[in-house]
Amino acid sequence: MDYLQIQGPTTLNGTVTISGAKNAALPLITLTLLAHNKVTLTNTPEVADIKTLLKLLENLGATQTLKNHVLELDTSTVNHTMANYDIVKTMRASILVLGPLLARFGHCEVSLPGGCAIGQRPIDLHLKALEQMGAKITIHAGYVNAVAPNGLQGAHIIFDKITVTGTANIVMAAALAHGKTVLVNCAKEPEVVQLCEILRDSGIDIRGIGTSELTIMGTGGKTIDMVDFEIIPDRIEAGTYLCAAAITNSTITLDNVRHDHLDAVTAKLEQMGCKIDITDSTMTIHPAQKLKHVELITQEYPAFPTDMQAQFLALATLAEGTSIIEERLFENRFMHVSELQRLGADIRLNGHTAMVMGGTPLFGADIMATDLRASSALVLAAMAAEGTTNVHRIYHLDRGYEDLEGKLRLLGAKIERLKE
Ligand code: UD1
Repeated sequence: MDYLQIQGPTTLNGTVTISGAKNAALPLITLTLLAHNKVTLTNTPEVADIKTLLKLLENLGATQTLKNHVLELDTSTVNHTMANYDIVKTMRASILVLGPLLARFGHCEVSLPGGCAIGQRPIDLHLKALEQMGAKITIHAGYVNAVAPNGLQGAHIIFDKITVTGTANIVMAAALAHGKTVLVNCAKEPEVVQLCEILRDSGIDIRGIGTSELTIMGTGGKTIDMVDFEIIPDRIEAGTYLCAAAITNSTITLDNVRHDHLDAVTAKLEQMGCKIDITDSTMTIHPAQKLKHVELITQEYPAFPTDMQAQFLALATLAEGTSIIEERLFENRFMHVSELQRLGADIRLNGHTAMVMGGTPLFGADIMATDLRASSALVLAAMAAEGTTNVHRIYHLDRGYEDLEGKLRLLGAKIERLKE
């Protein structure tokens, strides 16, 4: 197993290029299951989760090549409808094949994703919506068996809770359904917006893009002629580099970035005293003279993202005063707290809220990554800590950050990947 060795404290400078968004690429890759043509996706992030999903699509019969961030994908040859436990267990987002496979083939068998480190993460809302569209769903031997022999039917669906992959799954199912589907209380994340835009550009009548209510006219089972497109920049990767600059007191520039997707994140960094200059596709962050404490609550887009909570918690350990960080989306997303405490951070947890007494110095130690975003928070803290930190179990990191250590090294960090 690999681990990262980081020498701190460090200062960064220069420019980092942000990769394509993993969470946009995942549903867009499964969207190709609705197409009868070969599709080219540019700016595809080369991270483990994407490779896992491509393997799943290959198992279904698709052909693909991914080189220099250009993904060519042909799903016209897909002839299987079963997503196996072996792959689904490694990546929950595999559930994104459920809607498209059912819509195209009238049946599919997808392993239940099961639990995950940050919380229970059920898929009940995906299943309930598909049932409203006429699917018969049974759970047997750990698999969701879904059938809709006469195709899916348009329906009026109100999501009980806002769900990102749930919205994506049902939007894709509705695109091939018979008649009109109205989805209420949808996720408005930029990744969902791009999915809807690509469907629209591929000829689907879809209204309300970017709002919480989407109306989709289905093709009645006909596959679509999908357009080629470029994946949006990863706002969470960008936010992580902004925090890397803030925590190391550095000025850096981010290239290939959408600042409008980062408003909630930049607002908090500005409240903490950082200054951010923006152009069309770049952001330059200047550090705070004295980092101030912060209060934040994670919520659905456009509010502050849960995927940036861990990085801000790391940052708050160095800020003056007491920061309050409340996690509203996932019940168990504070596992990085005990690892940050190993570096010397003073953090108290009370249910869904972390109180961070900032300003205590951090010292290098051996720490363990527990989930994807928690891992990057540990790397940030390690760059600010005095001495050597070894971050173990970084396979979590590799799932969603493209060459994190290479990009940080180019910015001047002392970071190395080693074998246990
Ligand atoms: C997506 C993102 C993830 C991000 C999360 C919240 C991808 C691949 N992943 O995850 O990085 O942290 O959004 O922004 O895009 N829920 C239910 N029933 C369901 C579905 C969800 O109760 O059927 C609950 C979840 O347990 C959670 C909340 O709804 O508490 C939001 O989850 P959801 O938006 O579905 O997260 P993901 O789509 O899995």
